[in-house]
Order: sequence, then structure tokens, then C-alpha cells
Amino acid sequence: APTDVQVGTVADFPEGEIRPATLPDGTVVAIYNVDGTLYGTADLCSHGEASLSEEGILTGTTVECPWHFGTFDVTDGRATGMPCTVPLKTYTVKIANGNVYVESR
Ligand code: FES
Repeated sequence: APTDVQVGTVADFPEGEIRPATLPDGTVVAIYNVDGTLYGTADLCSHGEASLSEEGILTGTTVECPWHFGTFDVTDGRATGMPCTVPLKTYTVKIANGNVYVESR
């Protein structure tokens, strides 16, 4: 069953920015704030091993990986630009009472 893991407060995830969050099993999730809505994907680019939370560039709902300029849609993890073809795993991110939770499956 899914469990919600608290990863911080809303202040930790500024609008237009990408921040990392680590789940209890050590998995790092990249969390994107797009106009106040939070989305989560695997932190590592599916093409190489770039950290999207450290190096990704967020424009609207698109994250670009600066290593080879591949892109993903952060809302569903879809690869939207070459050389990326494998989707990113996505995570549901919730806000409740000013706290941020990632649903861990
Ligand atoms: Fe991200 Fe190649 S490692 S596009």
C-alpha cells in the first residue's frame, strides 16, 4: 500500500524550481514546482546519470537535462526530446497543512 513520506514544507520547494527529496529507502526524487503545483520524478535522467534536481532546467512543465539536452514532461514523466526515450518514474506529491508529502509505492 502507498505511504506518504513527509519531505519538507512548501517553503522548501519554491515556485519554478527543482529540489531533491530522499525517500526512506534512499531513492532520490526530483520535485518540481510549476505555478504552485508540485510534481515528482526520478532524480536521475533516464539517458545518463545526470541529477535533474541539481542540473535540470525547468521551463513550464518541461525539464531539460543539460548533459545532452534531452527533455521530459514533469507531469507524467514522458520523454519529450532526444536523446531521451525512456520515461522517468513519477511520484505523486501532495501538500497538506503546509507540509509536502511524496507518495511512496
Ligand atoms: Fe540526460 Fe543524456 S544524461 S540527456
